Amino acid sequence: MEPYIIRVASQKGGVGKTTISTNLAVCLKDFGYKVLLVDCDTTNPSIGFHLGMEKSNIGYKQLVKGTSKLSELCSVHAPTGICVIPGSINSKPFVITEAEARRVIKNLKASNYDFVILDTQPGYYIQTAVNEIDETLLITTPDMPSCSSILRSVKLLDEQNAKHNLIINRVKGKNYEISKREIEETYEGKIVGALPESDIVPESIAEHIPAYALSRNDKFSKGIFLSSRFYKKSTSPGEVPSTKRSFWSRIFRRR
Ligand SMILES: Nc1ncnc2c1ncn2[C@@H]1O[C@H](COP(=O)(O)OP(=O)(O)O)[C@@H](O)[C@H]1O
Ligand SMILES: [Mg+2]
Repeated sequence: MEPYIIRVASQKGGVGKTTISTNLAVCLKDFGYKVLLVDCDTTNPSIGFHLGMEKSNIGYKQLVKGTSKLSELCSVHAPTGICVIPGSINSKPFVITEAEARRVIKNLKASNYDFVILDTQPGYYIQTAVNEIDETLLITTPDMPSCSSILRSVKLLDEQNAKHNLIINRVKGKNYEISKREIEETYEGKIVGALPESDIVPESIAEHIPAYALSRNDKFSKGIFLSSRFYKKSTSPGEVPSTKRSFWSRIFRRR
């Protein structure tokens, strides 16, 4: 079966795309899936810092330019077992064309992973190869600048009939925040999760170990676990007894 490709995206920076991509990958791997995490941030690659692979100097750029094979670019992250195509921290920022983006996705689709998670940079990239990937997972924080930027992304994706879902990150439970209920009223896709603000995130980046691998009991890790379960059920219908399939398909009818 082809891998299910999730592009983690937002037009705004600093909302938690890299943190969520990395932890989602680790959690799905923990569920027993084969997972590839790709650092597609061509201006500020940072997955290497989250995983202690920051010295890597070969990765996504070579995949885009077609100078290396996919299998040559994947490294196994020993502590978690996920496969990773890191960004090239020393390379100059570069722009990826629509044709290159499509070729990369085609290449990834031909691999034997269950999930491919693409961590992206903010901005225009959200519009590339939208119909080749399976889903854009939008990330927002619960404030007006971030939520309004998500609505613009949704408009772009809806214009191209591209599937999208949403995670709300850095929820503190303060009354000045935009609540999940308020977001649900305007957002038509599925809200996959609401992840709390937690010190484990900066701590895990400093330790170069993803939060989910550092402590599964932390509130952020628990949120990642619940969000990852959404993918476990909905993309593996083979695991669901046939009598229950219609039940799951009704629950996940938007996907
Ligand atoms: N749930 C969270 N709790 C605490 N800090 C967070 C959380 N999510 C992200 N951060 C912090 O926010 C910063 C930006 O996160 P990052 O994943 O790099 O965002 P992006 O990839 O969207 O630019 C990081 O320094 C990270 O420590
Ligand atoms: Mg990032």
